[in-house]
Amino acid sequence: MRATQKRITNKPQKTRQRMKTSKAAKAVLQGVKGDLISSTEEWLALKEHVKTIDKTHLRDLLKDSERCEHLTLEYDGVYVDYARQRVTEETMEKLYSLARASGVKEKINAMFSGEAINSTENRAVLHVATRAPRSKVINVDGQNVVPDVHDVLDKIKDFSDRVRSGEWVGHTGLPLTDVVCVGIGGSFLGPLFVHTALKTNQSHAVEAQGRNLRFLANVDPVDVARALNGLNPETTLVVVVSKTFTTAETMLNARTVRQWIIASLGKDAVSKHMVAVSTNLKLVSEFGIDPKNAFAFWDWVGGRYSVCSAVGILPLALQYGFETCEMFLKGAWSMDEHFATADFEKNLPVTLGLISTWNVSFLGCDARAILPYCQALAKLAPHIQQVAMESNGKGVTIDGTPVDFPTGEIDFGEPGTNGQHSFYQLIHQGRVIPCDFIGVIKSQQSVYLKGEIVSNHDELMCNFFAQADALAVGKTPVELRAENTPDMLIPHKTFTGNRPSLSIMLPELNAYTTGQLLSLYEHRVAVQGFVWGLNSFDQWGVELGKVLATRVRATMHDKRNKGEMLTPSDGYNHSTERMLNRYLQGKAQLKYAPPSDVFPCDLINSDECRPPSSYA
Ligand code: F6P
Repeated sequence: MRATQKRITNKPQKTRQRMKTSKAAKAVLQGVKGDLISSTEEWLALKEHVKTIDKTHLRDLLKDSERCEHLTLEYDGVYVDYARQRVTEETMEKLYSLARASGVKEKINAMFSGEAINSTENRAVLHVATRAPRSKVINVDGQNVVPDVHDVLDKIKDFSDRVRSGEWVGHTGLPLTDVVCVGIGGSFLGPLFVHTALKTNQSHAVEAQGRNLRFLANVDPVDVARALNGLNPETTLVVVVSKTFTTAETMLNARTVRQWIIASLGKDAVSKHMVAVSTNLKLVSEFGIDPKNAFAFWDWVGGRYSVCSAVGILPLALQYGFETCEMFLKGAWSMDEHFATADFEKNLPVTLGLISTWNVSFLGCDARAILPYCQALAKLAPHIQQVAMESNGKGVTIDGTPVDFPTGEIDFGEPGTNGQHSFYQLIHQGRVIPCDFIGVIKSQQSVYLKGEIVSNHDELMCNFFAQADALAVGKTPVELRAENTPDMLIPHKTFTGNRPSLSIMLPELNAYTTGQLLSLYEHRVAVQGFVWGLNSFDQWGVELGKVLATRVRATMHDKRNKGEMLTPSDGYNHSTERMLNRYLQGKAQLKYAPPSDVFPCDLINSDECRPPSSYA
């Protein structure tokens, strides 16, 4: 098998190979409408190559120490081992050729140079500028945007320092120790991910002493109650985070929390207790938040890529101090620079993006599990779920041509070892789901019990190492027989193995490495989109549901006011009409139990705590 693998050593020859692109690839590179990457020689060669890979098993591939050595990457302390992917070095060469054929390098350059690569919205894609050092020049329409980025960062530093030091106080003169961020999607998941990553890091925790950071995302009033539970409006600062400042859920939650403040402190308190992060400063001001207390960002920062803008940096600076945020930005920028400059063969986001493309498009794997062996990364999977699935869950290429291959993957995940006791059965013996194992060398918390042979963190990491091999190597009937396993149990106890995973190891989890990890995943997603020829930076797929909800809202209001039921003439299908009628009738019979001052009943303008209705 080794003889069939070409080593990436013969540099001059490789360079010549690299330059050769197929005719179809040239069309893709020139953006010829209708030309899919799947029609290129590079893609077809990989399709053919699947037959070779299907003859291999990870159990055997892992015996090849040279291959194992070769299929690792390291950059700035981030170590990646992808020897447990169903690839050989030949596969990787073919994948790098595919990247060249699809113009990945040109697309990376276009992104970093501020071209409007999000063509359906005519926007540049410059989340990298939100973490660029002050000295960097990144132009959008001939204008360097980096000074604007740093103006906002300076404003965040100044404001967060004043709140944290107690110089900025609330309406009644008390320091604001609690922060509630109201926002959803990209205006929530990224900041939550980073906050969860930092809060048990001992040095970051020292900076956060005496402070609370909470999030309110869901329009479900249960989330409102949970977010505000136990908080005192006098010591609470509300940060409304919305790129557009029009998102229905966020705006209703913002109005609800504003009412919570006004009910207890009066209208004048809003200017001291509410600030905003948005690209739409006009709407911020119309909402009643002083524009002086608004922190801007720009339409060239996509919502799901906005955690390094004021969206994440303001709440995180309030909680952990600005210096911690600077470390986070530095970590992200370090990976950005690597992505922009490193050769593909050494480039972590490029390599990981290509591996995911291989798994999805050639090996037919529909899903990916993100499995951090680090509790502090508990919110990585939900964040990447949005970053990856909102970016690459598309049915057409950037020029509108329907794709003839699946795009995106279904992301899910839980920290190990919890996941092991939940869905790992399926990934060991059921479906093939490529896994990302993420571990750290130094835990945020060290516990070493006397008499135990390993520390608690060692125990966790033993699982990190073992699970990847269990998936790859499996267990054969021959091995089971040698252990005297009864015949009837052999099929049940057999592990077919050959299930791909990759392992990412960080020295420790802190603000810097969290930034690196974030950037690694963001760019990996971009690489997949670049290869597939998608626009990974728009999200038209979320629009239809929003429009239909607006119509339902109007119908609900109208029918309730008139005390009427829906009829076929309202234009809903029979199923929706029946469900809506059942809901309206059921709701009309409700009366919330005392105490009627339970939030949000105290906000309802009536003596009785019940929804308005003429059905009762
Ligand atoms: O879910 C769609 C979406 O537009 C996301 O892309 C975005 O992160 C989220 O809604 C919130 O939008 P906004 O920040 O404008 O409130």
